[in-house]
Parts: sequence; structure tokens; C-alpha cells
Amino acid sequence: MMKRISNVIAIMSSKGGVGKTSVSANLAAALAVEFNKKVLVIDTNLSTASLGLHLNIFYPKYTINDILRKNFKIKKAVHFYNENLHIIPASIQIRKPEKNIHNLRKNVFKIIKKYDEMLNEFSKEYDLIFLDCAPGFEMESIAAMHVAGGLLLVVNPEYPALVSAAKTVEYAKILKMPVGGAILNKSLGKKYELKEEEIEEALGIKIVGSVPFDMKVPESISNKMPIVLFDPYAKSSIVFKKLAASLVGMKYKFGFVKRVKKFLRIGVKKYRKEKIAEKKAAKKK
Ligand SMILES: Nc1ncnc2c1ncn2[C@@H]1O[C@H](COP(=O)(O)OP(=O)(O)OP(=O)(O)O)[C@@H](O)[C@H]1O
Ligand SMILES: [Mg+2]
Repeated sequence: MMKRISNVIAIMSSKGGVGKTSVSANLAAALAVEFNKKVLVIDTNLSTASLGLHLNIFYPKYTINDILRKNFKIKKAVHFYNENLHIIPASIQIRKPEKNIHNLRKNVFKIIKKYDEMLNEFSKEYDLIFLDCAPGFEMESIAAMHVAGGLLLVVNPEYPALVSAAKTVEYAKILKMPVGGAILNKSLGKKYELKEEEIEEALGIKIVGSVPFDMKVPESISNKMPIVLFDPYAKSSIVFKKLAASLVGMKYKFGFVKRVKKFLRIGVKKYRKEKIAEKKAAKKK
């Protein structure tokens, strides 16, 4: 087995749609913008990529899919959201059959070796690297499980998500992969939902953050921004920032000044203005 790389965190759940990509994009953006950390976030969901779409990358020239090719210069696939936040997207194209990927599928160890090479190259350059994982236990997620230093599980407060999460924990045990905790996402606070204690007991791991169901999350995605930037004081944004801080041993305090800013929606105006200016500049080109 490859040596695990300690500052690489895999964001996982075997169930689709629980919020892995939203969590990856937001933790990375919060660390980069709010806490001035250098972060790389990589889409390891080779078959149903979406990370780029959360971070305003629609037509990437080079992707993780290229990295898996022979003799490709890994750095060419790194995209810059801003100075601190870098992204390696995966290809969203289905035009030509991914011949190389198809061959690689047969041998998960080839992918693991490539990931190991890539992450060793980057681990010193970044404070933290996130792997946005594919659902299921296909070669994509299994490869990520082999190289990441730790795992953050994403779960929703319902049985299907819990059962999938439990499976992921079992796989992690088999692969001796440290589990850092679970992020409960899309909680509505309804009586019928599974409670935090029930989830913790069933999984045998701690819930490290509880992100409410927030319609601003899809709204932010349609605006091509993570919610922590689109609406920095939304309830979900504050949870993301607190969690991001805890990952690097820092604290996010939602104190008086921030409460006033939230009331006046100051940060929101700032980011949206920037966004509009960006759009205008892009149109002029
Ligand atoms: N806290 C939230 N509140 C409301 N909607 C959310 C929240 N988190 C995620 N979503 C929505 O859920 C959908 C799925 O989210 P996301 O793509 O992050 O999940 P995923 O686990 O990465 O999916 P996949 O398994 O397909 O990769 C998105 O449409 C997103 O807008
Ligand atoms: Mg996803």
C-alpha cells in the first residue's frame, strides 16, 4: 500500500447527491479566502465530474483525465480560482470514449500510482488538498481511499444516506484509512429526520459539522460560486467556515462585527459586485 499523504483529505460518501462536491468547494474556498490558506481541490469523480461547475470552470483545457495519461505534465491541469484556491477539474465531456481511462479502469493500481505521484508533488505546496470523490465503490473512489491521509464523510439525516455512510466507514477500516468525522448535510430540523446522536452511534464516528438544508446552496451554484463566497453569512456558510477553521487548527468566531455585517449584508454586496464586474469584463473580451 502507498504511504498516505497527511494533508490530503478525501470527501466521501458512497451515496450520490449528498453534497460531497458542495462540501469540497466550500471548505476549500473558506480556507483560501477567509483563513488565507493555500488549497488545492481535485475532482476525482472521473465519470460524473462536477467540481469545476461549482467553481466557474466550464471548459477546462486540461483535467485530471489528462493527468492519468502517460507523460502528461501534471501542473498543466491546475486552474486558479484565485491566488490561494487552485483546482484540478475532471472532464465533463463525453464526446470521445475515454480510451485511456477505460484501460486504466482495469487496473486501479495504475490510478493509485498516478495519484500518489501527483499528490507527492503538491503536498508541500499546499496547506491542504481535498479530493472530491465519486459515489459508489468503483475504482475512482477506491483509488482516492488508498492515497488520502484521512476521510471526511458526508451524510444526510436519512436512512439511505446513513447506510451508505456506514459502508464507507467499513471500507475505510479495511483500508486502514483514518476517518476524521462526518459532516451532516441538508438537515431541515424536521422531527422525522435522523438525529445527530443516532447517526454518530450508528457510524461510530463524530459529526464535526451540521450544514442545514439551505436553498442558497443551489442558488450559489447557479451563480458559479461556492456559498461561502456568494453569501458569506448564510447559515450554511458559517458552518462551512467553522469547520474549515477546525481543519487547520483555527477558530472562526461569528462575533459582533460579523453579526452587524450579516445584518447589513456587507460581504454579500462585495462579492456580488465583484462577480458582476467579472461578467462585464468577460463580455468585453
Ligand atoms: N446544504 C444544502 N442545502 C441545499 N441543497 C444542497 C445542500 N448541499 C448540497 N445541495 C444540493 O444538492 C445537490 C447535490 O450536491 P452535490 O453535487 O454537492 O452532491 P454530491 O454528493 O457531490 O453528488 P455526486 O454524488 O453526484 O457527486 C446539488 O444540487 C446542491 O445544490
Ligand atoms: Mg459530486
